[in-house]
Amino acid sequence: MRRFCPKKIFFLIAGIVFAILLNSCQPVLIAESQSLSSTKISASLLPVASPERELTASPAKLPPLPYDYGALDKAIDAETMKLHHDEHHASYVNNLNNALQQYPNLQRRSVEALLRDLNNVPENIRSKVRNNGGGHLNHTMFWQIMSPQGGGEPIGEIAQEINQTFGNFDVFKQQFNAAGAEHFGSGWVWLVRNPQNELQIVTTTNQDNPIMDGSYPIIGNDLWEHAYYLKYRNRRPEYLNNWWNVVNWSEINRRIQASSP
Ligand SMILES: [Fe+2]
Repeated sequence: MRRFCPKKIFFLIAGIVFAILLNSCQPVLIAESQSLSSTKISASLLPVASPERELTASPAKLPPLPYDYGALDKAIDAETMKLHHDEHHASYVNNLNNALQQYPNLQRRSVEALLRDLNNVPENIRSKVRNNGGGHLNHTMFWQIMSPQGGGEPIGEIAQEINQTFGNFDVFKQQFNAAGAEHFGSGWVWLVRNPQNELQIVTTTNQDNPIMDGSYPIIGNDLWEHAYYLKYRNRRPEYLNNWWNVVNWSEINRRIQASSP
């Protein structure tokens, strides 16, 4: 008759228990590392259209201007605002909807999600989604960060962070305007929070948005000629300088607070 050694039984049970414990620990470790890495990149995953929610693409809709066409005439004339909003922005919205028409799965994703993951957008519509999704997103933010009551010196957290990073508002404004003036052709000039959690001035071409590089846009000004040419002709630096007269610091403070880790 075969006898079981108590020592062997002990090691057998201990081995089974150890194997069960090892197996059950693995998903926890993976979950922890995922949650740590998502904390680090959280700024780049924030909604851009507004601090609260991402921009829908099912279907994309032209948001109403939050003020009259002539309300920003300290910097931008009424005719430019009407054309810019009713024609240019509207055509980005229509073109995005047309591009996504045959792709109900993509319509369920937000505009931000589409732009962060362009490689998973079919190649035949990728440029259209990039240009028109970017155009829709950039302009949706643009109307919000301007106000008839805007201008003056920055207040609150944005003022503190600008002073910490650039020294003072005048130095920051000079650097932002210079970057916008020097940018060749169409595009945007931005103040972003980059993946290293630093404030940085960057420019993008066409309608690209900083989320495509993992940064979060806090301030953005439109460098396309359609934004200023009727009033300023080829004098982009003058437009850039006057634009600060309509900057909505309250909204920009909401954006910088949302972007803070
Ligand atoms: Fe524009």
